[in-house]
Amino acid sequence: MAQEVVAGLIVDDDGVYIDVTTGGGGHSEAILLALGSSGHLLACDRDSAAMNEAGRRLAPHSGRVIFLQCAFSSLTRSAAPHLRRLLQAPDVRVAAGGAKVSGMLFDLGVSSHQIDASERGFSYHRDGPLDMRMDRNAGVPAGQLLAQIKESDLVGLIFRYGEERNARRIARSICRARDEVALNSTADLTRAIEMTNPQMPNKTLARVFQALRIAVNDELGELERGLDAAIELLRPGGRLAVIAYHSLEDRIVKQKFVRLEKGCICPPALPACACGLVPTFRSAGKRRRATEAEIEANPRARSAVLRVYEKLGEVSV
Ligand SMILES: C[S@@+](CC[C@H](N)C(=O)[O-])C[C@H]1O[C@@H](n2cnc3c(N)ncnc32)[C@H](O)[C@@H]1O
Repeated sequence: MAQEVVAGLIVDDDGVYIDVTTGGGGHSEAILLALGSSGHLLACDRDSAAMNEAGRRLAPHSGRVIFLQCAFSSLTRSAAPHLRRLLQAPDVRVAAGGAKVSGMLFDLGVSSHQIDASERGFSYHRDGPLDMRMDRNAGVPAGQLLAQIKESDLVGLIFRYGEERNARRIARSICRARDEVALNSTADLTRAIEMTNPQMPNKTLARVFQALRIAVNDELGELERGLDAAIELLRPGGRLAVIAYHSLEDRIVKQKFVRLEKGCICPPALPACACGLVPTFRSAGKRRRATEAEIEANPRARSAVLRVYEKLGEVSV
């Protein structure tokens, strides 16, 4: 959805933009190509392998891109010195509303590079170590999480993050297997899940792997904190584009911005507003889905939903 992202995101050719999920650098490249010669991009990702990959792809734009390995939750702190420098540099426009960012992109979830690398342990299609961490220097790998988690907590995790109806049966089967021998690989986990049903549909395997990945990377907590960072860092008139791949992510985005778009929270029966809250964001266009052609080229785009918001004024998060 690179063209839709660029069209929705770029409000100022010479502004400063942040791609917080640079991954392989596809969207970052599209943004840099659309910006003018004084437009800059902070290309961020929590995965060091993604940073290397994006570094190669974006090398032709090296004067206008800064690479930052950081998670959404540390974005404000990590980006601050670079934003201060960029926005005070004479060749970068300082927006009227203060030294702030013109646009931010969140293309959520995992990249195809991560899924295709068997040593990362994200895919049930490929045997590899049961890791699933986007940043391999932080957090607890999936194998360790499964070794330590209580069965009742695993039921909740698979049900909430995988939206899987058979969570109880699957969690029991995984816990039985891990109590006999440690689950060290994706194939070990797949076998443990398939013990409940040897003809286990791929959809179920995908849901359980998704659930574990979300837990290992605290993806939903990270998303909440990342959106708060965006709300703070954007300048009035600045845009935020979010591509979500499942309803859990999309719901968080929708709920956060419904509140900011609405402003006043007084009961309708009150004759005049007493809360003083005004709308601070507006939705910039309808939510978008990938075209058939995009889905054909990249089947993962089938579930993608793009939402774009524009900041109207200052917000206290
Ligand atoms: C769908 S991919 C992005 C693909 C990218 N737009 C491209 O064109 O190649 C998502 C990326 O976001 C990163 N990511 C996910 N959650 C993150 C977080 N909380 N903080 C930083 N990066 C994150 C992942 O490591 C992954 O590389």
